[in-house]
Amino acid sequence: MIYLDNASTTLIKPEAVGSAILTAMQTLGNTARGAHGYSIDAASAVYEAREKIARFFNCKRADHVVFTSNVTQALNMTIYGVLSSSDHVISTDLEHNSVLRPLYRLQDERGVEVDFVPADKKGCLDYRDFERMIKPNTKAIVCTHASNLTGNMTDMRRISEISRKNNILLIVDAAQTAGSKKIDMQELGIDILCFTGHKGLMGPQGTGGMCIGEGVKIRPLIVGGTGVQTYSRAQPERLPTLLEAGTLNGHGIAGLSAALDFINETGLDCIENKETFLTERFYNGIKNIDRVTVYGDLSREHTAIVALNIGDLDSGEVADILFEQYDIAVRAGAHCAPRLHRALGTKEQGAVRFSFSYFNSIEEIDKAIFAVKEISRSEMK
Ligand code: ALA
Repeated sequence: MIYLDNASTTLIKPEAVGSAILTAMQTLGNTARGAHGYSIDAASAVYEAREKIARFFNCKRADHVVFTSNVTQALNMTIYGVLSSSDHVISTDLEHNSVLRPLYRLQDERGVEVDFVPADKKGCLDYRDFERMIKPNTKAIVCTHASNLTGNMTDMRRISEISRKNNILLIVDAAQTAGSKKIDMQELGIDILCFTGHKGLMGPQGTGGMCIGEGVKIRPLIVGGTGVQTYSRAQPERLPTLLEAGTLNGHGIAGLSAALDFINETGLDCIENKETFLTERFYNGIKNIDRVTVYGDLSREHTAIVALNIGDLDSGEVADILFEQYDIAVRAGAHCAPRLHRALGTKEQGAVRFSFSYFNSIEEIDKAIFAVKEISRSEMK
C-alpha cells in the first residue's frame, strides 16, 4: 500500500516512537499525582518533552508548553481563553474548522466580531487586508501557517509585522507545518502556537499542545484536578498547570518525545528537503496531464500537499479508484476547510489531496503519477 495521506496523520512513524510508548505504559505513573518513583519518572519524562518542544519551536519557557490531546483542543482552549465579548478578531479563508467553528460559536454566543481575509482562486491571501481590517478592539489574528487543503503557506513574517505594529496577539495553527517546516516563535513574533503531534512531528495520535509567549493571558476552558493546591476553589494560576487539568497523556507524550529526537537527529532541513523534493516530483509529473486541475500556488512556499481534480470526476470516486485499483491512500471530498473550498470553486466536487512524508519513496511518487495519468485517460474515453 502507498500511503499518501500524511496531512491527515503520518502513518509511518520512527521506530523509536512505538517502543517509547510501550516502555512508558509499562513504567510511568501519573505526573504530579504522587511522590513515588513511578510518578516522579512520569513528571521527568513529561518535563523533558516540554523542554524539547520549547527548544524545537523556540518558545522562551518550557513551562509555557502546554500539552493537549490534539491541535483542535489547543485551538479551542486558545480561542475561548483569549477572546471576550467586546473583542474583534481577524482570521482567514484558509482556516480549518478547528479554527472556524470556535470562532463562529464565539460570534453567536459572545458577540465576538470576526473578519476573514479572503482567499483568491489560487487560495492566496492579500496581506494588506489584515491591516485594512484592524479596528480599535482587534484583539488577535488567528491564522493557519499552511492550508491543509492546498498546502499554501501563509507569510507569517508579514502577518507578524502587522500584529506587532498594532499590538495584536498572533495565534498560529501549525497543524500542517510543525515537524516539517522551521517555526521560530520568537523570531516570528507568535504569541500562541498550536500544534499537533501526529502529523509532521511523527508522534502518536492524542498528542498536541500550545506554546505560549511571555505575558499572554489565557482563561482555562477546562478546570479540575492538578495534583497541586487541592484546597483552592480556583484552578492554579501558573502555567502549565493552569491549562492542564486531568491526567496527561504521559504515554503519548513519551512517544512524541522520541519522535522529536528522531527529527532532531535526522535534521529538520533534511526532512523538509526530502518532502519538498517528493512534492515537486509529483507536481511536475501531473501538472500537464490533460483534464487535471491542481489547486493552490506551488510556485510559492508550500507544504508537502498537492490537491487536484480529474475532469468532472467526483473526488471521492477518484480516491476510491486510487485505493481499489492502485493501492494508493489519499484524502478526498471536503477537507474541513469550507471557506477555502468555496474560494477554489470545489464545494461540490471536493478535491483529491495527495500528501507526502519523509518516509515516502520516489517509486511511490512515480506510481501515483502513473495512476493519475491512467485515470485521466480512462475518464476521457
Ligand atoms: N485535519 C486533517 C486533514 O487535513 C485531519 O486531513
